[in-house]
Amino acid sequence: MTARLIDGVKLAAVIREEVAQRAAVLTAHGVRPGLAVIVVGSDPASQVYVRNKVAACEKAGLHSVLEAYPASMTQDELLNRVKALNAEPTIHGILVQLPLPAHIDAHLVIETIAAAKDVDGFHVSNAGLLMTGKPLFRPCTPYGVMKMLESEHVEIRGAVAVIIGASNIVGKPMAMLLQSAGATVTICNSKTRDLAWHTRHADIVVVATGKPRMVDGSMIKPGAVVIDVGINRLPDGKLCGDVDFDSAKEVASAITPVPGGVGPMTIAMLLVNTIEAAERALASK
Ligand code: GUN
Repeated sequence: MTARLIDGVKLAAVIREEVAQRAAVLTAHGVRPGLAVIVVGSDPASQVYVRNKVAACEKAGLHSVLEAYPASMTQDELLNRVKALNAEPTIHGILVQLPLPAHIDAHLVIETIAAAKDVDGFHVSNAGLLMTGKPLFRPCTPYGVMKMLESEHVEIRGAVAVIIGASNIVGKPMAMLLQSAGATVTICNSKTRDLAWHTRHADIVVVATGKPRMVDGSMIKPGAVVIDVGINRLPDGKLCGDVDFDSAKEVASAITPVPGGVGPMTIAMLLVNTIEAAERALASK
């Protein structure tokens, strides 16, 4: 079997077009959706991600501000920037790119972002709302994965889903979204015994570990749907996912490529969350 490719570039383009239409409606009502992106330090991957996020905003007609600070920025300086953006009416979404330098408490920074502007969905109150079934913002990567499964008409209700990786950014919110949609969910981590036993029982496998090609075709149940959240740079400069694509595609029924799978969807869903924040701001005017 050769799996169907789940094309994140194509689906993200459709979503971005819908975002552009909603942005135009909001702008016509006097509320141009605005996103502020803060990056601290010079991590090359983070620099690329934030530039892509801001460029996607501009393309869809959103207002966006990129604030890049040196790694020497103090925690208080960053908290003060976040507080100023919380009070800024032209900004509906605030994203602080992670990771932050070690001298800054990322939890404290996230908790300082106004929950109504937390378009990443990382604030404890947003994590709690997601957990209790009333999400305000769904974290962008898991939200994008759900859109991909939906567009492929993957049956989630009753499915066995295995997530590898238990991060606050991907694994945990992914589990909440899949379980709310009716899947039976297992979250595996680096200590899980016999990982392959778990993955071989899964109808849906989501891999988010940051370990190149750690899941191969022998670990996949024939016909399963495989979602690869990883993006790793190999010594030869090429990009690869956390899944060994060549062997997994021979066993799975559908699979996301890297690049061109989940990555573009994360950005598209960030735009959706910013639009949702601006629509709520307009409704409460
Ligand atoms: N670092 C890696 N992924 C993300 C994300 O989705 N949001 C933020 N803020 N930082 C990240």
